[in-house]
Amino acid sequence: MHVEVCRDAERAGVTAAAIIAEGQPRVLGVATGSSPLPTYRALAARTDLSIETLVLLDEYIGLDPDHPERYRTVVLRDVAVPLGVPAHCVLSPDVDAADLHDAAARYDELVRTSHVDVQILGLGRNGHIAFNEPGTPATSTTRVVELTEATRRDNARFFEHPDDVPHRAITQGIATILAARRIVLIATGAAKADAIARLLHGPVDTAVPATALLAHSDVVVVVDEEAHHLIGAR
Ligand code: GLP
Repeated sequence: MHVEVCRDAERAGVTAAAIIAEGQPRVLGVATGSSPLPTYRALAARTDLSIETLVLLDEYIGLDPDHPERYRTVVLRDVAVPLGVPAHCVLSPDVDAADLHDAAARYDELVRTSHVDVQILGLGRNGHIAFNEPGTPATSTTRVVELTEATRRDNARFFEHPDDVPHRAITQGIATILAARRIVLIATGAAKADAIARLLHGPVDTAVPATALLAHSDVVVVVDEEAHHLIGAR
């Protein structure tokens, strides 16, 4: 696992974009949340990319199709439009399906057969990746999950009222994520320092889902100094 420490979040975005571009992705896996936003801006400013397909990691269950916080809507606005990827080339789980478990299994198959070249990941404060919450095994595949109260609280800032945050989502599993050729995890801000320390110090522990990445051969972790400040202190 390679680690890049950058002065601030903006520089972390530029660094992550360069590492992503180096992987020459045709199929790019994208994460939501605030951490990758500087990366998306930096990717849009590059002229050396030929991204054809975007693949979402996860999607809330229960939001209206036109809700602005639907992850598909967020990705179309913040990633697909700036990168010039048409909406029909943006893959996401069908959270409106009558059978959500079947929709999750179908999405797992779709992600695997799409062969993600580079997967961008954020990091939850509790060490989650996508919506794989603490306790998730590394063998997990795409499925319906319950969000922890900690994650619902963290994500409440995007909603008018904390009660509006959905309780469930469809998420790619850890095994699904690990099938990507290269993984670039971006974490910025002091709130992520504990999870970053637990990831970089290891060992693999299902209590910190991101530690499953230690088993992948091409992972780059891009952090700012705030997210890195506990390294060496534990
Ligand atoms: C959500 C997403 C994750 C993301 C996390 C961190 O829970 N499902 O994929 O990594 O938020 O978000 P942020 O970068 O805003 O801290």
